[in-house]
Formats: sequence, structure tokens, C-alpha cells
Amino acid sequence: MMVVSEAVPFAKTGGLADVSSALSVALATLGHDVSLVLPRYREAGGAGEPAGRMTVTVGQVPYEVGLYAASLGRDVRVTLLDCPALYDREGLYGADGRDHPDNPTRFGLLVRAALDLAAATEGPPSIVHAHDWQAALGPVMLSAGLPGLERLRGSASVQTIHNLAYQGVFPLGCLGALGLAEAPGVACTLTHKAGVSFLKGGIAYSDAVTTVSPGYAREILGAELGRGLDASLRDRGSDLSGILNGIDVDVWDPATDPYLPAPFSAGDLEGKRAAKRAVLECYGLPTDEAALTRPLVGMVSRMVPQKGLDLLAEISDDLAGLDATFVVLGTGMAEYQALWQRLAERHPAGVGVHVGFDEARAHLIEGGADLFLMPSRFEPCGLNQLYSLRYGTVPVVRATGGLADTVRAFDAETEQGTGFVFTEYSAAALMAALRTALAVFGDRDAWRRIQAAGMAEDHSWDVSAREYVKVYRRAVASVRNGADGTAAQGGAGSTRSE
Ligand code: ADP
Ligand code: GLC
Repeated sequence: MMVVSEAVPFAKTGGLADVSSALSVALATLGHDVSLVLPRYREAGGAGEPAGRMTVTVGQVPYEVGLYAASLGRDVRVTLLDCPALYDREGLYGADGRDHPDNPTRFGLLVRAALDLAAATEGPPSIVHAHDWQAALGPVMLSAGLPGLERLRGSASVQTIHNLAYQGVFPLGCLGALGLAEAPGVACTLTHKAGVSFLKGGIAYSDAVTTVSPGYAREILGAELGRGLDASLRDRGSDLSGILNGIDVDVWDPATDPYLPAPFSAGDLEGKRAAKRAVLECYGLPTDEAALTRPLVGMVSRMVPQKGLDLLAEISDDLAGLDATFVVLGTGMAEYQALWQRLAERHPAGVGVHVGFDEARAHLIEGGADLFLMPSRFEPCGLNQLYSLRYGTVPVVRATGGLADTVRAFDAETEQGTGFVFTEYSAAALMAALRTALAVFGDRDAWRRIQAAGMAEDHSWDVSAREYVKVYRRAVASVRNGADGTAAQGGAGSTRSE
């Protein structure tokens, strides 16, 4: 059972939604019985068929929850939790730049409802897979031996960290409202930054911890990217692993993508030119022959510090001086949005900006751009560079986390590689990489080889889904061993085996 705060096509703010959905379908394709539970937010737009009601008690407070059934692929059963008081509002996690103050309750309910559903099924799930801080109370509640969850004693839990920058830190008092204040060890284990961290709980109490690339799995063991949880992660030793995200190769396929004006493939890139024209048109940029020939640099990103926007801010005027056109799509912090909007106003023929969340435009940029920019400060995995590789859109990335694991740096000597990579987090290093990329763009043969190398790679979920299955098997074995009293490992102070 996947417990997650977003999943395509029901709700999405970033890559988590793509991953939870595509991983579930890939696991089902391998023959596993997969269900997924998420809130029915306002933006889910009335998704699902009514499938009953249940009372879910969080702490002492009963919530009436409507259950709505849907599916993903052919076989993944989805339950959307309808609780208008908590979910029928603007924004998944917050609005107007502020987090919803009742997030502990909103995601406490998600977890408790999912576990109640799991406990009520005839064969309880062998794995409860919690994604990010929003679901991280799953392993905690399973371990705490809360009343009503006795049937889940044999279920193992896996915690996946999609982004350690979001830790779900709340005042200590929230544990009382969640019915966890009295659970032995919980308050102490979750204590973090003058409050409690849900994610710290998921890391400590799960039977296995994963993150979304091997590179990031190493990086978060250090102080810089560990963000205060590195010691907790080091404590898990070999229970922590990095599994690279895949992509949904049906949704992200230039040969069938309905958002593109014409299909294209590695063998026939003609349609990519049509996509380039369409992107320029949709941004109101010139579409004459010179504009179609000039390199088009795309960016689709949450506008937050993680994505390297301060580097771009530093060199914004130099960017506009390059012989390239820029198209940007994103939402996020007001200062970054304003930065790009100012740049577009100053350079109306060279920079196009759209502030908003727009699936169609994201596909069009992947299809039509020549280069894709991801100068991230850190990047647990990143999906857009993978989409770019598949669409013959050459990524320019910083060597961090999943970007370093997935983009092979172009080597001018051998002319091998799939993209352009810089290491130092500096505006100068980014600018140098961009200049190199733009110079190579002028060499049509070299460019075609780079595109072809990227397009030939297989980033489908199949391989990574099998890696998750291995983690699941190990987690199940550790719970069984624990129950036998042979090798009680698993998370901190697990009471399930006692
Ligand atoms: P993150 O999850 O950190 O935002 P990823 O690269 O893993 O980064 O995934 C981002 C996902 O969200 C991609 O599918 C990307 O296309 C999508 N996305 C981000 N911003 C927007 C936007 N403004 N409009 C449409 N899609 C977006
Ligand atoms: C997070 C990360 C991103 C990753 C995504 C899906 O949002 O920032 O790098 O690709 O989760 O795992």
C-alpha cells in the first residue's frame, strides 16, 4: 500500500506525483497487488466513484471520511479520502506562500485512514510504503502499536525520501492531537529543531529507508545535504539505499505525446522543429527562420532555491546577451517569479516566461527546446532531465544527486556524452557550461550524436521497480525475523515484534 500526498493524475506539485503513480503501475505490471491512498483535494476535481464512508479517529477526534475509488493503469486500486474540512481548499500544502497551519492533522489523517483501511482488508498489505514527510507517520504509527492497528503487526514499512529539505517539522504539542504523545519513545525520537519532525520518525521507525538516487543517498549522510537528519540516516546503515527514479515512458514519449504538434523520434527529428515553432508561438516569441535556428533553452521548475535560481539571478543580464532564446515555466517564490518576468519584459524577443502550473506547456517545452537547464543546488533525482534525454533536448545540469547519476558529461575529445555538466555551484561555472553547450550546438553532427545518445537510453521504471521489490523483500524478512525473535532489526524501538 502506497501512502502518498500526491499522485498523477489526481494531484501534483512536483516529481513526487509522477513517481508515486508510475512506480505503482510498474509494480502492478510486475505482478504485485498495489493500492494507493491519497487525499481528495479540491484540485482532484471530483475524482473517483463513491465507495463508502468511514470514521477515522486521529488522537481523540473522529473524522467522517468519504472513500472514493479510482484506478491507475489497469490494476492499481486508488482510494481518495474525502474530508472537505481538511482537503477542500486552495493549495495542497499551503496557499499564498504560507503552509496550512493544520498540516499535522491533514497528513495525520491521511496516514491513519490508510492504516485503518489496510487493517480492514482481508489480507493486510505486506508493505506500507510511505512517501516523504506527509506519510512518514505511517512507520511511526505502525511501530507504536496503536489500538486498532493490531492486524498490521506483520506489515513492514518502507520510507522513501524524495526531498530531505522538507521534513514536516511541527510543535511538539501536535503529537498529543495525533494520539502519539504517550507512545513510548516517539516524542524523543521525533524531536528535531525545537519541535518534532515527521520525516525523522519515518526514517527511524521504518524497516527500510530509500531515496531516489544513489548519489543523493550518499550525499544526505553528510552535514550539508543531511540537513540535521544525517545522523539519523547514518544510524540506519545499510537499511538506507538509493534507487533511481524511472519515468513513465507512455506519458513522456515524443512519438505519441498528444501535447506535441507532430510526433518525432530519434530516427526522425522533423517533428521536433514543429514543436520548437509551437513553443515560440505559445510564448509570443518570434518564429522567423533566424529564431527557429537559434538555440532554444527551456526550463520547467518549481521556483525555489533548490533549483539554482539564485545562480540564474546573478547572471540574468548575461543570459539575455547569449545567442539563445529562453523559455521558462514555473511557479514558486514571488522574488524568482518577478526576476524572470522582469527579464522577459526587458528582452521580449529573447526570453519568454509563464508563471503557473501547466502540464501541456511542460510537455511542449520538453519537445521543442534544444537544451534544458537544471542548475540545481541539490537534486534528489530530478525527472525533467530524464524527460529531456528522451525528447532529444540536451540537458545542462549541475553535478549533484540524481542529475550527476543520470546525465553523462559531454567529452569534447571523444564526443561521447548525453549533456553538459558543471560541478561548482557558481554562476561562472553555470555560464561556462552554457557557453560550451551553445558552441557545440553549432556543430550539427556532434549535436545529433549527443541527442541520439540520450534518446537511446532506457529510463523506464522496470529496472527500478525491481529494485524496490528487493527492498520490500528485505523489509518483510526483517519483520518476520523480528517476530520470530531471531534478528529484531527494523526501526528505532519497534514494538511490533514484542
Ligand atoms: P521536483 O519534484 O523537485 O519539482 P522533478 O524534476 O522531480 O522536480 O519533477 C518536477 C515535475 O513537475 C516534472 O514532471 C515537471 O514537468 C513538473 N513541473 C514542475 N513545475 C511545473 C509547472 N510549472 N508546470 C507543469 N509541470 C511542472
Ligand atoms: C522531489 C525531488 C526531485 C525528485 C522528486 C521525485 O521533489 O526534488 O529531485 O525527482 O522528488 O522523487
